[in-house]
Amino acid sequence: MTLLTVRSLKKDFGIKEILKDASFSLDDRDKVGLIGTNGSGKSTLLKMIAGLEAIDGGEIQINSGMKIVYLPQQPDLDNDKTVLEQVFADSGESMTLIKEYEELSDRLVHEPENLDTIMERLSRVSQQIDKLAAWDLETNAKVILSKLGIDNFNARVGDLSGGYRKRIAIATALLADPDCLLMDEPTNHLDALSVEWLQSYLSRFRGGLLLITHDRYFLDRVVDTIFAFETGGNIRQYPGNYSLYLDQKKEEEEPKEKKVTPKTVKASPSPVNKKISFKEKKEYEDIEKQIPILEAKKAEIEQVLYGEPLEDFTKITALTEELAQLSQKIDTLTDRWLELAEKLG
Ligand SMILES: Nc1ncnc2c1ncn2[C@@H]1O[C@H](COP(=O)(O)OP(=O)(O)OP(=O)(O)O)[C@@H](O)[C@H]1O
Ligand SMILES: [Mg+2]
Repeated sequence: MTLLTVRSLKKDFGIKEILKDASFSLDDRDKVGLIGTNGSGKSTLLKMIAGLEAIDGGEIQINSGMKIVYLPQQPDLDNDKTVLEQVFADSGESMTLIKEYEELSDRLVHEPENLDTIMERLSRVSQQIDKLAAWDLETNAKVILSKLGIDNFNARVGDLSGGYRKRIAIATALLADPDCLLMDEPTNHLDALSVEWLQSYLSRFRGGLLLITHDRYFLDRVVDTIFAFETGGNIRQYPGNYSLYLDQKKEEEEPKEKKVTPKTVKASPSPVNKKISFKEKKEYEDIEKQIPILEAKKAEIEQVLYGEPLEDFTKITALTEELAQLSQKIDTLTDRWLELAEKLG
């Protein structure tokens, strides 16, 4: 079933044209990674689908009855709410009833004189919760929050750091039971264990997913299609995960550039473009040497992590963290390498 369809979408901020003529669709169970350089328009696209940013042409059609939940890059939360209240902010009736049930249970202990009235009300609320099958909501919320590293459910949102606020927003999005999740950089600020948990949660998620992340390792594990922002304001679709996308790109570039990639380049191209400075050329050459070393180290860790089953939890955590840092570093260096390679001509 198709969740949403985007046709000839156009977005132009005046000084910057983000999309010229983008078309794609997202089916239930599709897991899509949205990639592009910084400032290419990834966040803007998710905002447009979420209905929070105007479109300048084309259309976005959302299948009626589909619940689309959007996790912003920088979530806007209510500072005065507690963690649990914030997580339940979108759960509407279910949460109101659970809160009422808890209040009534509390009054039952403190107001013995009103026992009959409270009991009667408690019974009605309990039936309504039964009807909505909402009993598990609070338990689920606490499990998800704990998995994301939050244990103080009554902390005030305003007292928490940006990283923790993002975790609360992730928990809120997951608990909303969406048909389609739009997630903007969910792994930023997460520790390695939370990243692992989210990765496996999203891999099993039964709805559609449109995900932005710079964590290529996360992308590889979660998505089955890549939508890439291409120069010229279009989005190109690549079946497969991020590694397959890189392979496809490499193949396309091979005849033109004779396998010029960070991993395979042996000799640097001559600096035909005089715009590149000596310092940049040196940086380019250094990156070329660094990337294969980091890739090898990454492969080594992956072999330990995913080869034989590991039982030492501390070791798994340390390796996972190291892996995430390595992936991030390789990404940053690859981006910079590509930038310099373009300058070199
Ligand atoms: N409201 C706005 N008005 C004008 N320009 C904007 C507006 N919002 C975003 N932009 C510009 O549009 C471009 C795309 O922004 P967007 O945040 O969508 O990029 P992104 O791909 O998500 O980047 P990043 O990877 O850094 O998160 C950027 O150049 C940004 O400065
Ligand atoms: Mg963004």
